[in-house]
Amino acid sequence: MSTRTTSSRLPGLYTLTVGERRRQVAEAAGLDDQALAALDGGLSEDDAAGMIENVLGRYALPFAVATNFTVDGIDALVPMVIEEPSVVAAASNAARMVRAAGGFTATVAPPIVTGQIQLTHIIDVDRALAAVTEAAPVLLARARELTPRLCARGGGPIAVSARVLARPPGPDGGVIVVEIDVDCRDAMGANLVNTLCERLAEPAAHAAAGRVGLRILSNLSDRRTVKVTCRAPDDALADARCPGALVRTAVAAASRVAELDPYRAVTHNPGVMNGVDAVLVATGQDWRAVEAGAHAFAARSGAYRPLAVWREAEGGLIGELELPLAVGTVGGALHVHRGARLALRLAGVDAAPRLAALAGAAGLACNLAALRALATDGIQRGHMALHARAVARAAGTPTELIDDVADALAAAGDIRVEAARVILQQLSQDPSLKDAP
Ligand code: MEV
Repeated sequence: MSTRTTSSRLPGLYTLTVGERRRQVAEAAGLDDQALAALDGGLSEDDAAGMIENVLGRYALPFAVATNFTVDGIDALVPMVIEEPSVVAAASNAARMVRAAGGFTATVAPPIVTGQIQLTHIIDVDRALAAVTEAAPVLLARARELTPRLCARGGGPIAVSARVLARPPGPDGGVIVVEIDVDCRDAMGANLVNTLCERLAEPAAHAAAGRVGLRILSNLSDRRTVKVTCRAPDDALADARCPGALVRTAVAAASRVAELDPYRAVTHNPGVMNGVDAVLVATGQDWRAVEAGAHAFAARSGAYRPLAVWREAEGGLIGELELPLAVGTVGGALHVHRGARLALRLAGVDAAPRLAALAGAAGLACNLAALRALATDGIQRGHMALHARAVARAAGTPTELIDDVADALAAAGDIRVEAARVILQQLSQDPSLKDAP
């Protein structure tokens, strides 16, 4: 875990230019200009060409930090890469509310990922199950021999078991799956678990008298979960138009709707994943695997449910989020992507559990911000203000006039590039309009 004592409170960061922000964040994170050079995108063309096939170039997304986060008593600047406006501001605002009550608390489960070896065309699945169970200690010992460095770091394979998937007759005959649980330490684990599955498949098939099928990890890493809790007091929840106690009641009601209705839960959960995914993308993680695991976890009761819920208590809201989060701080894209490595440094992350805690906290923060906005003003007012800024920029508005043009667009309720050009022309003909109310 990070021991850095940097404050994540950087009030007014959003008012600065990009260059000024970089300097302030670098100073807060104790990094020099050279380290921040990775903000050029973090990936050379050669490195990109070595990562995937048929590369033509690189594709950029905005890289930001969310402020105000305290997680497990330690402040962190939370790196986020995302194309959607408002998410970073929402995460920072919600983190400020939660900070008033001590911040987020995370419980990160041991980093256990399960590899699966599918065995098919088994005539007697019960006998196969018994045989694999008997062979499990030998298979486990072999698995540990194949992962000496991971075992030396205190991780490695910890159990081998088997389950029946289908009994004959059927298109694949009798099918069992042999599962290897691996403590992956600070790695996400996909490569090492997949390699293990491939290497153990033959001896497992021999024991079960079956045919080797698929050999790969499961992304439903429901033993490698993170649980994040927080409290947001009424005072912090209040805004100019709505007292905190009303916001509290409205957010708890919004949480209950998601618990009652899968159609709402499916919209509620992307509010969580906005925060989680933005941190995962910034830090070079396999966010598709996490997404698949998160939604399977959300549906584990048989109905699709919210990943995060909010309850009223002690003059505030208590939030709780739980999801599987297989992340790594070694290996994967981190080998080549300087931007992802910089993101970990900015956040002061030096081990996978801390990264999982920050991603979870970002998820819970984004969910709180979304529910608070939906339950009070609605989200469109804030979105429209940001949209107006983007349209003003697209119309060629110089930086110093963006706020004026965006305000005029929003006030007119006509947020189009043509309208922005007209306003710009009026401003250039009569600059006194700039200060008009
Ligand atoms: C949009 O990216 C996320 C929200 O739809 C989440 C929610 O509805 O809770 C606003």
